[in-house]
Amino acid sequence: MLFISFFTKKLEMVSSPFPILNNLYRLYYKGMVKKEISLCGITDEDRVLCIGGGPFPCTAMEIAKKTGAQIEVIDYDPLAVKKAKKLINKMNLDKQISIKCAKGQELEVRDFSIIHVAFQAQPQKDILDSLLSKVNNGTKILMRSNVKELRTIFSCSKNHLRCTLLKDQEIKAQQNNACLSKRVTCLVEKIGKANELEMQRVV
Ligand SMILES: C[S@@+](CC[C@H](N)C(=O)[O-])C[C@H]1O[C@@H](n2cnc3c(N)ncnc32)[C@H](O)[C@@H]1O
Repeated sequence: MLFISFFTKKLEMVSSPFPILNNLYRLYYKGMVKKEISLCGITDEDRVLCIGGGPFPCTAMEIAKKTGAQIEVIDYDPLAVKKAKKLINKMNLDKQISIKCAKGQELEVRDFSIIHVAFQAQPQKDILDSLLSKVNNGTKILMRSNVKELRTIFSCSKNHLRCTLLKDQEIKAQQNNACLSKRVTCLVEKIGKANELEMQRVV
């Protein structure tokens, strides 16, 4: 995970001055973001927070283009924030996407209806715990993770969860350990008190 995060960020740092490279990044992000958008039905009425946008916030740009929603992107690295701001300005998306420097686990999040957590945003458990203690019921949290990490995160609080749709991934993971590292996006929705959650689907 550390190597992937390091490599992805370096790559985004060098490509950030070149908006044209978004066409290349889209080859990777387009399909994944399309599934995530339909998973929680994002519309232009939503206010979306993307945690861990990086210097090239492809996920936020794709959600913005596809849904018309207002988006706030945060990253805790000031250099990534500076580069992302320049890129968003060059692409004339600054009215729809704002970029701020902040940590995902220390943010005020009540204003958002959808929260997207990037694969490299860490530590995921702290971020999720913090979000769940602050969001309103009905707020949808999309977490990009892998099966192993999700198991660890959710095993601590199984009694309070309905983990219905993780089943497929769990079965595959038991059959083949390689699946533990498979990337998935899960939708976590707070449906009641702080620890009453519904983990709906995995794409
Ligand atoms: C390299 S990006 C990859 C995301 C990709 N550009 C996208 O659009 O989905 C991941 C970023 O997450 C940031 N990050 C990691 N942990 C974070 C946290 N706890 N809070 C905010 N940003 C975080 C890193 O600084 C890094 O820039």
